[in-house]
Amino acid sequence: MTVHFIGAGPGAPDLLTLRGRDLIAASPVCLYAGSLVPAAVLDHCPPGARIVNTAPMDLDAIIAAIAEAHGEGLDIARLHSGDLSIWSAMGEQIRRLRELGIPFTVTPGVPAFAAAAAALEAELTVPTIAQSLVLTRTSGRASAMPESESLTRFAATGSTLAIHLSIHNLAKVVEELSPEYGPDCPVAVIWRASWPDERVVRATLATVEQAVDGSMERTALILVGPGLAADAGAEVRSSLYSQDYDRRFRPQSAESRFAGEPG
Ligand SMILES: C[S@@+](CC[C@H](N)C(=O)[O-])C[C@H]1O[C@@H](n2cnc3c(N)ncnc32)[C@H](O)[C@@H]1O
Repeated sequence: MTVHFIGAGPGAPDLLTLRGRDLIAASPVCLYAGSLVPAAVLDHCPPGARIVNTAPMDLDAIIAAIAEAHGEGLDIARLHSGDLSIWSAMGEQIRRLRELGIPFTVTPGVPAFAAAAAALEAELTVPTIAQSLVLTRTSGRASAMPESESLTRFAATGSTLAIHLSIHNLAKVVEELSPEYGPDCPVAVIWRASWPDERVVRATLATVEQAVDGSMERTALILVGPGLAADAGAEVRSSLYSQDYDRRFRPQSAESRFAGEPG
C-alpha cells in the first residue's frame, strides 16, 4: 500500500499529468484538499472510491485517515492543488509518514502560475527586461514571511513577481511595490486559472485595486512586473532564434565552433 502525493494542477481536470491521472484512477482511496482542488478532478477516481475532503481536517486527522487505509492495504491518491513543491503542506505529511514507515511517491503537477501565464498568453521571462520569476506570497495568519523576503526587496530586482495567497492583501501588495515599480507597472490578476469561470484582470499598480471586484477572492494569483507590458521586449528578441546567432544546432558558417559537430 502506497500514498501517492499528486499535484492536481490548477483546476481543469485535463491539466493533470498522465501519471497523476493514472494513479488517481488506480487508487481506491482519494484524499483531496477541497479548498482548492475542484470536484471535477475527482472524476478520475475509480467507481466506488472512498473520497475524503481534507479541508476541514487537521494534520492528525489526515494522518489517521491515511493510516486507516494503510491498515486496510489500500493505495491512496493524496491530491494537492497545482504542484507539490510550493505551498502544498506535503512536507509535514511526509515527515509523519516516514515516522510511521508508510511508503509514498510524489508526482508533480501544473502550478497555478503556469496556468495563469497561459491565461494571459504570456511568457513571464522577457529578454533584457525580466529574466527571473519570483514565486512568493504575503504573510498570512498561518505563515509569517521571513523578514528578508519582503515584496519591496523582490521588486528591487525588477523581476516578474507571482504573488500567491494574497488577493485579500492587494492593498498591501500595491503599497509595497509602487515605490519600486512605479504606478504604471503592469499587474494581472488571474482568478481560478483554468477553471470554467476563469477571470483575468489587467491593470496597473495604480488601478488594480479598483479593477478587481470583491468576488475574486482566494483562488487568485497576482502577477506584477515590467515584463508583463503587452509590448515588453518587442524591440529585443532572444538570441536563440535570431538568424545570425551561431549555435550548436544551427552553425552559421564553416568556421563556426560548432561546424561538423553532431547536433
Ligand atoms: C496553497 S497555494 C497552492 C499553490 C499550488 N501548490 C501551486 O503549485 O500553484 C494556493 C494559492 O495558489 C494560487 N492558485 C492556486 N490555484 C489557482 C488557480 N487555479 N488560479 C489562480 N491562482 C491559483 C492562489 O494564489 C492561491 O491562493
